[in-house]
Amino acid sequence: MSHQLKITTKEISSLEVKLTKTYILLVQKGAKLNNNGQKIWNKTDYNFSKLAKLENFTGEKGQSINLLAPLKLKAHRVLVLGIGSKTDEQEINYKNIGGIIAKTISQFQDKNISIIFEDESNNQIAQLGAGLHLYLYSFDKYKTKKSKKASDRKSNNINYTFLVNNKTAVSKALKDEMAVVEGTLIARDLINEPSNMLGPVEFSKECLKLTNLGMDIKVLGEKELKKLGMGAFLAVGQGSSRPSKMVVMSWFGGKKNDAPIAIIGKGVVFDSGGISIKPANSMQDMKGDMGGAAAVVGLMHTIALRESKTNIIGIVGLCENMPDGDAYRPGDIIKSMSGQTIEVINTDAEGRLVLADVLWYAQDKFKPKFMINLATLTGAIMVGLGTEYAGLFSNDDVLANDLLEAGQISGEKLWRMPLDKAYDKMIDSQFADMKNTGGRFGGAITAAQFLQRFVNDVPWAHLDIAGTGFGVKKSNINQSWAPGFGVALLDSFLRKNFEK
Ligand code: BES
Ligand code: MN
Ligand code: ZN
Repeated sequence: MSHQLKITTKEISSLEVKLTKTYILLVQKGAKLNNNGQKIWNKTDYNFSKLAKLENFTGEKGQSINLLAPLKLKAHRVLVLGIGSKTDEQEINYKNIGGIIAKTISQFQDKNISIIFEDESNNQIAQLGAGLHLYLYSFDKYKTKKSKKASDRKSNNINYTFLVNNKTAVSKALKDEMAVVEGTLIARDLINEPSNMLGPVEFSKECLKLTNLGMDIKVLGEKELKKLGMGAFLAVGQGSSRPSKMVVMSWFGGKKNDAPIAIIGKGVVFDSGGISIKPANSMQDMKGDMGGAAAVVGLMHTIALRESKTNIIGIVGLCENMPDGDAYRPGDIIKSMSGQTIEVINTDAEGRLVLADVLWYAQDKFKPKFMINLATLTGAIMVGLGTEYAGLFSNDDVLANDLLEAGQISGEKLWRMPLDKAYDKMIDSQFADMKNTGGRFGGAITAAQFLQRFVNDVPWAHLDIAGTGFGVKKSNINQSWAPGFGVALLDSFLRKNFEK
């Protein structure tokens, strides 16, 4: 991790004994201290409601009172933080509150901080802990000169003490949530990493690290992929000097005969567009075209760290899309593992070619109960949904609705898009079974229709994360180019539906 932060939980009864430098009191809308908060505050000898009025503090989210050097409470600072209140539509977002705290504290450079909890659930407390980490993450390993700006000097070696009612329960919730943080930050690291450092081979080595967590990892090289008949996947990497790889990660924490869930990621380590080369502006962003695969690897870390009682197969298709004398070309007709032939119209519509073979392989080899794929697949989904929602396409309403709900719970939101025979027609080809683009109209949908031709009627969902995978707005829980979208989403999805 790029930052160092330790969270310790203590029973709130130890409140009187241990004094730290900084106290944080959380106050909801209405500006009333809770009992534990009041106990601390009483030692400051200030009148809270009067001070709150004078400071216009109402408990609205993000408001704060920063009280320094109170005489009787031997602390440096008491920070009263407004956290708003829940509405009919929305609970208080504690991940976000954690981010606000991390941001505020990094301006002060305080090192020992106690947060006083009272009414918050174990899960909410854990979410807050996650938010601290998610905010503090930064990708600066290639900067040889560290920034001197105080706000950039991400607080190192910070110790947080969470004062809570039930230490054991909170510790357990925190441990699970930290597994999600770790998976998310691994995904961020992979996406932020430049392509010269992270090719298919290097990426597959990152996957192999999961062996340490008790996971079974298989890396398949071009010879094996050829033997499997993966002509679509292999065509994409043909112009690259770096060989394509497919990695299969298996976690069997569930019942022995339970069919696994397959999670599949597009892992184009760099997408130049190939012979249908992309314009120069923003081409550098295409180092993130493995965002789907990064989310899969991150999620596999998370479920292993949580020792999830599920059976999950994670599969990533890793390759590089380059122009070259050996590259595939527009007009080429290639044969997929399914036997279906594809006319290449545009070599920049490469992600669907990778996924076509990986999806087919996943259902053929593992007979999963369903498949979910993540892919930075189309610019069209960014036009439609921007950077807030990822596009969800599915042939199964139950699966789709469960994913939509997980989006709401995790804050990694999804918006369902249509699939329809009429769109499917748009990728019929004059020369082969299908073509790899459907024209400008409905570009995200025709891409999804293409994928659907390779799922063989297995329940399936496709998440087009081109808009949410990288280059998103900075937020309280992400200051980095890559947010690691998909890890928290699928973790919530698995926990809610398969681990209760
Ligand atoms: N990786 C891109 C999609 C993308 C674009 C992701 C921008 C994130 C940001 C994908 O391989 C691609 O190039 N898609 C083309 C498809 C087209 C040629 C049919 C696109 O969306 O323009
Ligand atoms: Mn492309
Ligand atoms: Zn791409």
